Amino acid sequence: MAQLVAAFFSSVLIFSLFSPGKSLSLNYYDKTCPYAESIITNAIKNAASEDKTVPAALLRLHFHDCFIRGCDASVLLSSKGSNKAEKDGPPNVSLHAFYVIDNAKKELEAWCPGVVSCADILALAARDAVVLSGGPSWDVPKGRKDGKTSKASETTQLPAPTFSISQLQQSFSQRGLSMDDLVALSGGHTLGFSHCSSFQKRIHNFNATHDVDPSMHPSFAASLRSVCPQKNMAKNAGATMDPSSTTFDNNYYKLILQGKGLFSSDQALLDAPKTKDLVSKFASSQEAFRKAFVNSMIKMSSINGGQEIRKDCRVVN
Ligand code: HEM
Repeated sequence: MAQLVAAFFSSVLIFSLFSPGKSLSLNYYDKTCPYAESIITNAIKNAASEDKTVPAALLRLHFHDCFIRGCDASVLLSSKGSNKAEKDGPPNVSLHAFYVIDNAKKELEAWCPGVVSCADILALAARDAVVLSGGPSWDVPKGRKDGKTSKASETTQLPAPTFSISQLQQSFSQRGLSMDDLVALSGGHTLGFSHCSSFQKRIHNFNATHDVDPSMHPSFAASLRSVCPQKNMAKNAGATMDPSSTTFDNNYYKLILQGKGLFSSDQALLDAPKTKDLVSKFASSQEAFRKAFVNSMIKMSSINGGQEIRKDCRVVN
């Protein structure tokens, strides 16, 4: 009997630890806006068919939203007067595809005004972006609220591409995310593009003894140096994060094992035994990666914040 009671309480505990934030639910808009998800999916499909870079942009938008003030769409607010918004903070100037969220919101406001939060649109858009790229699908818990504050100065709290494994661990754990989440979510770098500035320090004047980061494969370094020379760098120059940059696959982990991770923060996943083991596991099993990614996305997506349902994703009500 005592064992049964203990088992019951531990399963309740496990459920409450791994269930989404209290206020989120899978059927949140079933009565108030039953077509919400299909309206969003349509908007994203339309945009992605015109521009292949849209899915990566949407996935990164959601990550940057959740890491500052929780998933509250603070990343979408425009600067106003003397207040410089997150969007205009240094790590966010390369975010794009904001118009896709605006289009979805416009359509939602026509069908069910004042009901669907911009933060939920971002979470659903990130899921749709992964699905459209051939990745896994999952049910997104909904019911997020939009925040009223957005400060560019707070974007310094985002993890940087120069981070070491311990800095990454700290950044994730401050948001309730584990080392497992770090490795799984870093797999988002299977999609998209990076400007030279994000890895420039690794390929020129790395340190007193090495011009190039020694953890980088020499042929990979040479190819990056040719697109990102030390001087006369074109503003839009850069490299895809992964050669199959519009396909959501586990190639990212295979590349890290070969010394071909683009950022120090990607390559740093080999610097702790636990994260290194996970990189190997995800490199050899697409299925293990897909499962872990879904699990960690739901966790990251549940970091809460926000108070209202914005009418326009760029301005507070
Ligand atoms: C672990 C810490 C992370 C760091 C340090 C980091 C850093 C970066 C940097 C520097 C870029 C390139 C920006 C540019 O030069 O244009 C980038 C792009 C990107 N990141 Fe991350 N990132 C991290 C985690 C994540 C996570 C958790 C996700 C999503 C689950 C993600 C998704 C993306 C995507 C999709 C792009 C490509 C964006 C595009 O093509 O527009 N990143 N990241």
